[in-house]
Amino acid sequence: MSESLVISGGMLAGHAGGQPLDLMIVDGVIAEIGPQGSLAGGGQVVDATDALVMPGFVDIQVHFRTPGGEDSEDIASGAAGAALGGVTACVMMPNTIPTIDNPTLVKEVLAVGRTSHCDIYTSAAITQARAGERLVDFDSLYAAGVRIFTDDGTVVDDAGLMREALLASARLPGCVISQHAEESGMVDGGVINEGVVSARLGLKGRPREAEAVIVDRDIQLAAETNGRYHVLHMSTSLAADLVREAKASGIRVTAEVTPQHLILTEEDVERLGTSGKMNPPLRTDTDVEALRACIFDGTVDAIATDHAPHSRESKDVSLSAAPPGMLGVETMASVIWTEFVAAGLMTLDRFVALLSTQPANVAGLVSQGQQLEVGKTANIAVFDPQDEWTPDQSSLQSKSANNPWIGKRLVGRVRHTICRGQLVVADRALL
Ligand code: DOR
Repeated sequence: MSESLVISGGMLAGHAGGQPLDLMIVDGVIAEIGPQGSLAGGGQVVDATDALVMPGFVDIQVHFRTPGGEDSEDIASGAAGAALGGVTACVMMPNTIPTIDNPTLVKEVLAVGRTSHCDIYTSAAITQARAGERLVDFDSLYAAGVRIFTDDGTVVDDAGLMREALLASARLPGCVISQHAEESGMVDGGVINEGVVSARLGLKGRPREAEAVIVDRDIQLAAETNGRYHVLHMSTSLAADLVREAKASGIRVTAEVTPQHLILTEEDVERLGTSGKMNPPLRTDTDVEALRACIFDGTVDAIATDHAPHSRESKDVSLSAAPPGMLGVETMASVIWTEFVAAGLMTLDRFVALLSTQPANVAGLVSQGQQLEVGKTANIAVFDPQDEWTPDQSSLQSKSANNPWIGKRLVGRVRHTICRGQLVVADRALL
């Protein structure tokens, strides 16, 4: 028998009984689960006392900037941060240089991903070079393993192209068309949310209805084509209402929300400076409240970070000149734990569903987000809910520094991460 790895004495998510358990992994698979102390012996043992053992987290929206933007992040640095954050799978966005819009590039980035600290998947663009003019070849990209198509960073404005893309998703099992929902004409030149803060700062705003008009149109297209539609980083109560209604009438729509859109508002932008600038922008209290309701009523399927690194120099400019985006993959679990679970607002089961099971389902990642049961692939995060920490720039893995949670006290931290049976983080350190 191959050497085993035992996670000893943790509380296993999804297991009734309230007793600490041992979980043994052999050849990348959960081989046995038993009472604490019953499985140690032989192989390697990691201590999970006082910790929660969960399926590894799945982040379905990260920008790891490979190829073309490696000064701000690359797959190795992005995946290292992900692993420290308990994330065992990431789906990269294709707004790279050049755009990931062909099977050759898909294969290249996936090959780089195979040597990294977590499972790497990639989405591909909907239109060639994300130029919004000609569709990609969905079939060859699908054959190369792509399941999520998106022009993220920009919207697909053209309804005809969007309709064709949704028709492709209807005939390719597991394929989903993901939209960055901001109508171009309305947000052109806009810097932050159109509202009190943009008025105060004299900046052109990005109106909330720019999201709603796209989501509304796309839902109609999804309904007629029977395509599968996903709303990336949903940010407004307006879009949330549309998604809720569409789901209720059986249209194939899913949605994700970022930690920042669940916690921060436009009022935080002045405090955070350019780290607080992103697209879609931080919105209002009303939107935060509506999105918070969505993670409990099933309107939102997944929490995803939109991890968007930008070099220090590029962010060290005015709000208008700075590129949009903030980091998040390394801090996601701790931030959501602090704000929701430790605050008594969310159960452990819902936390696992939003950070692991449901995002894995949206992206069709069959070996991720699984219940901790014998026979399942061992993608696991061991999370210490008592461990308090304050992220600081020097200890984070990203090559960039635009993380709004730096300096904020967080409750709960990943202790160990196991990806496909391999221990990749032990005692909060990368291996
Ligand atoms: O703020 C954002 N930054 N939103 C996006 O959709 C793209 C991302 C990026 O690539 O920097």
